[in-house]
Amino acid sequence: MTGRPFEPVALPAEAAALHAELGAPPRLLAHHRLVHDVAVRLLAAVGAELGVDADGVRYGAATHDIGKVRYPQELSGPGSRHEEAGRALLLERGVPPELARYAGSHGSWQRPGLGTEELLVSLADKVWKGRRQPDLEDLVAGRLAAARRQPLWEAFLHLDDLLAPIAEDAPRRLAHQAAFPL
Ligand SMILES: [Fe+2]
Repeated sequence: MTGRPFEPVALPAEAAALHAELGAPPRLLAHHRLVHDVAVRLLAAVGAELGVDADGVRYGAATHDIGKVRYPQELSGPGSRHEEAGRALLLERGVPPELARYAGSHGSWQRPGLGTEELLVSLADKVWKGRRQPDLEDLVAGRLAAARRQPLWEAFLHLDDLLAPIAEDAPRRLAHQAAFPL
């Protein structure tokens, strides 16, 4: 799988424009393109049956870490200050709350009351780098089980079949992202 050039699908136009207007670092843009690319795959597989707002998920995946323009040290190190800062930044720019919410929620999937859209953005933000996050996957499998009227274990297997090949391809994505400057 290595050696092939990697070309993630294009970001939604408004999300791409936002990066340009903010002078977002190339690494951040690359990250958003990769997470958005994974989100598009998740949507293609389960978006319709989950009944989610696909445009919202795409926008969320494409902007979730935008707060890192204010906390650039969190691009290469740990930290969650970018989360609320990102939501605030989007709201300040007139982005509606239902689209700004992903920036604030992508790191806290345990929070009660999150929409399935938000869980999908959190999931894409894990699996792009090969991280399997059991508690998050359980939450998504629960939504899937309800939508498919399936037992949880069956929905979990369905989700696993979807995520495993995406996670396997993570080294190629990580190498792609690392090639962009901070
Ligand atoms: Fe991220």
